[in-house]
Amino acid sequence: MTNLHAPMGQTKLQNYNSTRGAESYKADYRNKLHRRWSDKRERALLHRYFARVGKVDSILDLPCGHGRLADLLHSHCKRLTEADWSFTMVSLNQRDHDVTGRHYVRASALEIPFPDRSHDLVLSFRLSHHLETQELRERHLRELFRVADQHVIVTWFSATSLKNMLRQLRVRLAGKKPKNVLRNDRVRAIAAECGFTQVEAKPLFLIGSGHMLALFTRRGDA
Ligand SMILES: C[S@@+](CC[C@H](N)C(=O)[O-])C[C@H]1O[C@@H](n2cnc3c(N)ncnc32)[C@H](O)[C@@H]1O
Repeated sequence: MTNLHAPMGQTKLQNYNSTRGAESYKADYRNKLHRRWSDKRERALLHRYFARVGKVDSILDLPCGHGRLADLLHSHCKRLTEADWSFTMVSLNQRDHDVTGRHYVRASALEIPFPDRSHDLVLSFRLSHHLETQELRERHLRELFRVADQHVIVTWFSATSLKNMLRQLRVRLAGKKPKNVLRNDRVRAIAAECGFTQVEAKPLFLIGSGHMLALFTRRGDA
Protein backbone atom coordinates (compact mmCIF):
# COMPACT_ATOMS: atom_id res chain seq x y z
CA MET A 1 0.00 0.00 0.00
CA THR A 2 1.35 3.43 -0.93
CA ASN A 3 0.51 6.99 -0.02
CA LEU A 4 -1.59 7.09 -3.19
CA HIS A 5 -4.05 4.86 -1.34
CA ALA A 6 -4.26 7.25 1.59
CA PRO A 7 -3.33 10.71 0.41
CA MET A 8 -4.43 12.70 3.44
CA GLY A 9 -2.00 15.21 4.98
CA GLN A 10 1.12 13.20 5.79
CA THR A 11 1.42 14.45 9.35
CA LYS A 12 -2.21 13.62 10.10
CA LEU A 13 -1.89 10.21 8.51
CA GLN A 14 1.30 9.40 10.40
CA ASN A 15 -0.49 10.48 13.54
CA TYR A 16 -3.44 8.10 12.94
CA ASN A 17 -0.96 5.37 12.13
CA SER A 18 1.02 5.80 15.35
CA THR A 19 -0.02 4.14 18.60
CA ARG A 20 0.07 7.50 20.36
CA GLY A 21 -2.13 9.19 17.71
CA ALA A 22 -4.65 6.34 17.56
CA GLU A 23 -4.92 6.16 21.38
CA SER A 24 -5.26 9.93 21.58
CA TYR A 25 -8.08 9.98 18.96
CA LYS A 26 -9.84 7.36 21.07
CA ALA A 27 -9.26 9.31 24.31
CA ASP A 28 -10.64 12.52 22.74
CA TYR A 29 -14.05 10.86 22.50
CA ARG A 30 -13.98 10.17 26.25
CA ASN A 31 -12.45 13.46 27.38
CA LYS A 32 -13.42 16.30 25.04
CA LEU A 33 -16.89 17.78 25.35
CA HIS A 34 -17.26 18.73 21.67
CA ARG A 35 -16.27 15.19 20.63
CA ARG A 36 -18.79 13.69 23.06
CA TRP A 37 -21.53 15.97 21.66
CA SER A 38 -20.78 15.13 18.07
CA ASP A 39 -20.56 11.43 18.92
CA LYS A 40 -24.01 11.63 20.56
CA ARG A 41 -25.51 13.47 17.59
CA GLU A 42 -23.94 11.03 15.10
CA ARG A 43 -25.39 8.08 17.00
CA ALA A 44 -28.83 9.71 17.11
CA LEU A 45 -28.73 10.21 13.33
CA LEU A 46 -27.50 6.66 12.79
CA HIS A 47 -30.40 5.29 14.85
CA ARG A 48 -32.77 7.39 12.78
CA TYR A 49 -31.29 6.10 9.49
CA PHE A 50 -31.26 2.47 10.67
CA ALA A 51 -34.93 2.83 11.64
CA ARG A 52 -35.53 3.36 7.89
CA VAL A 53 -33.10 0.75 6.62
CA GLY A 54 -33.79 -2.06 9.15
CA LYS A 55 -31.32 -4.82 9.91
CA VAL A 56 -29.00 -5.87 7.06
CA ASP A 57 -26.70 -8.85 6.50
CA SER A 58 -23.43 -7.02 5.99
CA ILE A 59 -21.92 -3.63 6.79
CA LEU A 60 -18.54 -2.25 5.75
CA ASP A 61 -17.28 0.49 8.11
CA LEU A 62 -14.40 2.23 6.27
CA PRO A 63 -12.57 4.01 7.82
CA CYS A 64 -13.43 2.36 11.13
CA GLY A 65 -10.75 4.10 13.23
CA HIS A 66 -10.57 2.55 16.68
CA GLY A 67 -14.12 1.16 16.31
CA ARG A 68 -16.01 4.04 17.87
CA LEU A 69 -19.23 3.01 16.08
CA ALA A 70 -18.53 -0.73 15.80
CA ASP A 71 -20.93 -1.98 18.49
CA LEU A 72 -23.77 0.20 17.25
CA LEU A 73 -23.20 -1.01 13.68
CA HIS A 74 -22.91 -4.66 14.73
CA SER A 75 -26.30 -4.44 16.43
CA HIS A 76 -27.76 -3.68 12.96
CA CYS A 77 -26.15 -6.49 10.94
CA LYS A 78 -24.96 -10.10 10.99
CA ARG A 79 -21.49 -9.45 9.55
CA LEU A 80 -19.48 -6.30 10.20
CA THR A 81 -16.24 -5.51 8.38
CA GLU A 82 -14.07 -2.96 10.15
CA ALA A 83 -11.46 -1.51 7.78
CA ASP A 84 -8.97 1.33 7.91
CA TRP A 85 -5.74 2.37 6.21
CA SER A 86 -4.03 2.54 9.62
CA PHE A 87 -2.78 -0.81 10.94
CA THR A 88 -2.70 0.70 14.39
CA MET A 89 -6.36 1.73 14.29
CA VAL A 90 -7.42 -1.72 13.04
CA SER A 91 -5.36 -3.48 15.76
CA LEU A 92 -6.67 -1.23 18.52
CA ASN A 93 -10.20 -1.82 17.27
CA GLN A 94 -9.73 -5.61 17.20
CA ARG A 95 -8.14 -5.61 20.66
CA ASP A 96 -11.09 -3.68 22.15
CA HIS A 97 -13.94 -5.51 20.43
CA ASP A 98 -15.41 -8.94 19.97
CA VAL A 99 -14.40 -10.97 16.92
CA THR A 100 -17.62 -12.97 16.50
CA GLY A 101 -19.40 -11.79 13.34
CA ARG A 102 -16.66 -9.21 12.70
CA HIS A 103 -13.73 -9.00 10.30
CA TYR A 104 -10.79 -6.65 10.55
CA VAL A 105 -8.99 -5.52 7.40
CA ARG A 106 -6.42 -2.96 6.36
CA ALA A 107 -7.85 -1.19 3.33
CA SER A 108 -7.80 2.06 1.42
CA ALA A 109 -11.12 3.87 1.06
CA LEU A 110 -9.92 5.16 -2.33
CA GLU A 111 -9.48 1.72 -3.85
CA ILE A 112 -11.67 -0.55 -1.76
CA PRO A 113 -10.48 -4.17 -2.09
CA PHE A 114 -14.01 -5.63 -2.36
CA PRO A 115 -16.16 -6.42 -5.41
CA ASP A 116 -19.04 -4.28 -6.65
CA ARG A 117 -22.17 -4.51 -4.47
CA SER A 118 -20.43 -6.83 -1.98
CA HIS A 119 -21.84 -5.24 1.21
CA ASP A 120 -25.47 -4.36 1.95
CA LEU A 121 -24.47 -1.09 3.58
CA VAL A 122 -21.23 0.88 3.38
CA LEU A 123 -20.48 3.58 5.93
CA SER A 124 -17.76 6.22 5.82
CA PHE A 125 -17.51 8.64 8.72
CA ARG A 126 -15.11 11.56 9.01
CA LEU A 127 -12.81 10.80 6.11
CA SER A 128 -13.97 12.97 3.19
CA HIS A 129 -12.83 16.24 4.82
CA HIS A 130 -9.32 14.83 5.22
CA LEU A 131 -8.95 14.14 1.47
CA GLU A 132 -7.05 17.02 0.00
CA THR A 133 -8.43 17.33 -3.52
CA GLN A 134 -11.90 17.42 -5.04
CA GLU A 135 -10.91 14.54 -7.32
CA LEU A 136 -10.06 12.31 -4.30
CA ARG A 137 -13.22 13.26 -2.42
CA GLU A 138 -15.29 12.33 -5.46
CA ARG A 139 -13.33 9.13 -6.05
CA HIS A 140 -13.99 8.16 -2.44
CA LEU A 141 -17.76 8.65 -2.92
CA ARG A 142 -17.79 6.60 -6.11
CA GLU A 143 -15.97 3.76 -4.34
CA LEU A 144 -18.59 3.70 -1.56
CA PHE A 145 -21.43 3.55 -4.11
CA ARG A 146 -19.63 0.85 -6.09
CA VAL A 147 -19.18 -1.52 -3.11
CA ALA A 148 -22.63 -0.89 -1.54
CA ASP A 149 -25.44 -3.13 -2.67
CA GLN A 150 -28.27 -1.20 -0.98
CA HIS A 151 -27.24 1.74 1.22
CA VAL A 152 -24.46 4.23 1.85
CA ILE A 153 -24.14 6.39 4.95
CA VAL A 154 -21.45 9.04 4.54
CA THR A 155 -20.22 12.29 6.04
CA TRP A 156 -18.66 15.23 4.22
CA PHE A 157 -17.85 18.85 4.97
CA SER A 158 -20.46 20.99 3.25
CA ALA A 159 -19.32 23.85 1.01
CA THR A 160 -22.51 25.76 1.85
CA SER A 161 -22.30 25.36 5.64
CA LEU A 162 -22.03 28.47 7.79
CA LYS A 163 -18.73 27.16 9.11
CA ASN A 164 -17.28 26.95 5.62
CA MET A 165 -18.58 30.38 4.62
CA LEU A 166 -16.87 31.89 7.66
CA ARG A 167 -13.72 29.95 6.79
CA GLN A 168 -13.81 31.33 3.25
CA LEU A 169 -13.76 34.85 4.67
CA ARG A 170 -10.72 33.97 6.75
CA VAL A 171 -9.10 32.39 3.68
CA ARG A 172 -9.51 35.70 1.85
CA LEU A 173 -8.70 38.01 4.73
CA ALA A 174 -6.18 36.10 6.81
CA GLY A 175 -4.68 33.60 4.36
CA LYS A 176 -6.11 30.58 6.24
CA LYS A 177 -6.08 27.18 4.52
CA PRO A 178 -9.41 26.32 2.79
CA LYS A 179 -11.47 23.39 4.13
CA ASN A 180 -11.75 20.18 2.11
CA VAL A 181 -15.39 20.54 1.16
CA LEU A 182 -18.00 19.11 -1.19
CA ARG A 183 -21.12 20.80 -2.46
CA ASN A 184 -24.27 18.97 -1.35
CA ASP A 185 -25.73 19.07 -4.88
CA ARG A 186 -22.49 17.56 -6.28
CA VAL A 187 -22.73 14.66 -3.79
CA ARG A 188 -26.34 14.04 -4.87
CA ALA A 189 -25.32 14.17 -8.54
CA ILE A 190 -22.56 11.58 -8.03
CA ALA A 191 -24.97 9.38 -6.08
CA ALA A 192 -27.48 9.61 -8.93
CA GLU A 193 -24.82 8.68 -11.52
CA CYS A 194 -24.03 5.62 -9.40
CA GLY A 195 -27.69 4.59 -9.14
CA PHE A 196 -28.42 5.98 -5.65
CA THR A 197 -30.94 8.48 -4.27
CA GLN A 198 -30.43 10.65 -1.21
CA VAL A 199 -32.99 9.60 1.40
CA GLU A 200 -31.95 12.01 4.17
CA ALA A 201 -29.11 14.44 4.76
CA LYS A 202 -28.70 16.24 8.06
CA PRO A 203 -26.04 18.67 9.26
CA LEU A 204 -24.22 17.43 12.32
CA PHE A 205 -24.92 20.87 13.87
CA LEU A 206 -26.13 24.06 12.17
CA ILE A 207 -23.55 26.17 14.00
CA GLY A 208 -20.01 25.16 14.85
CA SER A 209 -19.74 22.25 12.41
CA GLY A 210 -19.89 21.95 8.64
CA HIS A 211 -20.29 18.18 8.56
CA MET A 212 -23.23 16.59 6.75
CA LEU A 213 -24.36 13.07 7.48
CA ALA A 214 -26.49 11.44 4.80
CA LEU A 215 -28.23 8.20 3.90
CA PHE A 216 -28.40 7.08 0.24
CA THR A 217 -30.32 4.09 -1.07
CA ARG A 218 -29.96 2.29 -4.42
CA ARG A 219 -32.78 3.01 -6.87
CA GLY A 220 -34.96 0.04 -7.74
CA ASP A 221 -33.90 0.18 -11.40
CA ALA A 222 -30.13 0.57 -10.76
C1 LIG B 1 -11.10 11.03 11.80
S1 LIG B 1 -10.74 9.32 11.75
C2 LIG B 1 -12.40 8.65 11.64
C3 LIG B 1 -12.51 7.23 12.12
C4 LIG B 1 -13.95 6.71 12.30
N1 LIG B 1 -14.68 6.69 11.04
C5 LIG B 1 -14.70 7.56 13.30
O1 LIG B 1 -15.59 8.32 12.89
O2 LIG B 1 -14.36 7.47 14.50
C6 LIG B 1 -10.10 9.15 10.11
C7 LIG B 1 -9.61 7.74 9.83
O3 LIG B 1 -9.36 7.62 8.43
C8 LIG B 1 -8.26 6.75 8.23
N2 LIG B 1 -7.79 6.98 6.85
C9 LIG B 1 -7.14 8.05 6.35
N3 LIG B 1 -6.99 7.94 5.01
C10 LIG B 1 -7.57 6.76 4.67
C11 LIG B 1 -7.76 6.08 3.44
N4 LIG B 1 -7.38 6.61 2.27
N5 LIG B 1 -8.38 4.90 3.44
C12 LIG B 1 -8.83 4.35 4.60
N6 LIG B 1 -8.67 4.94 5.81
C13 LIG B 1 -8.07 6.14 5.83
C14 LIG B 1 -7.31 7.13 9.36
O4 LIG B 1 -6.39 6.12 9.62
C15 LIG B 1 -8.30 7.35 10.52
O5 LIG B 1 -8.52 6.16 11.25
